[in-house]
Amino acid sequence: MKESFGHLPTGEECFLYTISCGAVTACVTDCGASLVKLLVPDSRGRLDDIVLGYDSCEGYLSGDGYIGGTIGRSANRIKGSGFVLGGKTYSMTPNEGPNNLHSGPDSYNTRLWKLISHTGDAVTLELRSPDGDQGFPGNALIRVTYRLDASGALHLIYDAVSDRDTVFNLTNHSYFNLAGHRRTDRAMDQLLSLPGRFFTPADAQGIPTGEKRSVEGTPMDFRTPKPIGRDIAEDYEPLHLQGGYDHNWEVFCNPCAQLSDPESGRTMSVSTDCPGIQFYAGNFLNADGKEGVHYGKRSGIALETQFYPDSIHHPEWPQPITGAGTQYHTETVYRFTW
Ligand code: GAL
Repeated sequence: MKESFGHLPTGEECFLYTISCGAVTACVTDCGASLVKLLVPDSRGRLDDIVLGYDSCEGYLSGDGYIGGTIGRSANRIKGSGFVLGGKTYSMTPNEGPNNLHSGPDSYNTRLWKLISHTGDAVTLELRSPDGDQGFPGNALIRVTYRLDASGALHLIYDAVSDRDTVFNLTNHSYFNLAGHRRTDRAMDQLLSLPGRFFTPADAQGIPTGEKRSVEGTPMDFRTPKPIGRDIAEDYEPLHLQGGYDHNWEVFCNPCAQLSDPESGRTMSVSTDCPGIQFYAGNFLNADGKEGVHYGKRSGIALETQFYPDSIHHPEWPQPITGAGTQYHTETVYRFTW
């Protein structure tokens, strides 16, 4: 199914594409290649929409909270809004103090992507990002595919190529609430597990210090599932600095995250070939979303698979660099049981 999703200020129309397989249905818009709805049954077979979203493209254009959007060319923060690649310095627009967040004000999640294909269970969208776009080198061709498989798992597949060496670090910024997006008070009760043995602490501006710190004995230890809200107010510096959970964990094994809501019986696991996962507890969420629901602080959580934040300045970490003419390909899978 394809339906109108409103108009851009340029007059261009945006669309909402529905895909289904098994018991799961997803809706994706070409506005920001954003995931708008994700309908998953609960243990009694009742469907609920478990992602936060907006009713039309206007919400996505505001970019507030980056809700559901495809983030690129480089997700998360780049210190000082610049980097050196191949001996050349590249500058980006600072949009968070002196630093760059999610590639700056003209981020991919607020652009109109082109539809490449839409079948019953998959949709592929494409973005052309010219040389110098957001400050990055190389004419880039980027595709994201959302595909549901027979088990109802949602695959997010990213493919990109550039004619110059460049940075590719694409992710999706969906916020999940397995109780349903309306149950804004319930997100913090859900159980999260993150098998990662270390996380990367950040300074007050969210820039990693370079340390890889063990989670052992800290509120960051999610190796055994626990309610997200249980330790979030603990007296622990990394939590103070970021206003709650908003950190990168190593992807130690797959699934690299598992979320469950005992009341509805829904669980979601996340598997990826990316080296890191940013767990953001929605500490600063403040958006008027779908169906008149206001999304306040901590009404959903993001689990963003990606290279470590600011990894371009940490050569000791996996590097978000793709050579000219080389295919960038990553895949993240959200699997559900109920
Ligand atoms: C996350 C980031 C948070 C916040 C959020 C957008 O990816 O880790 O610090 O900026 O995006 O509101």
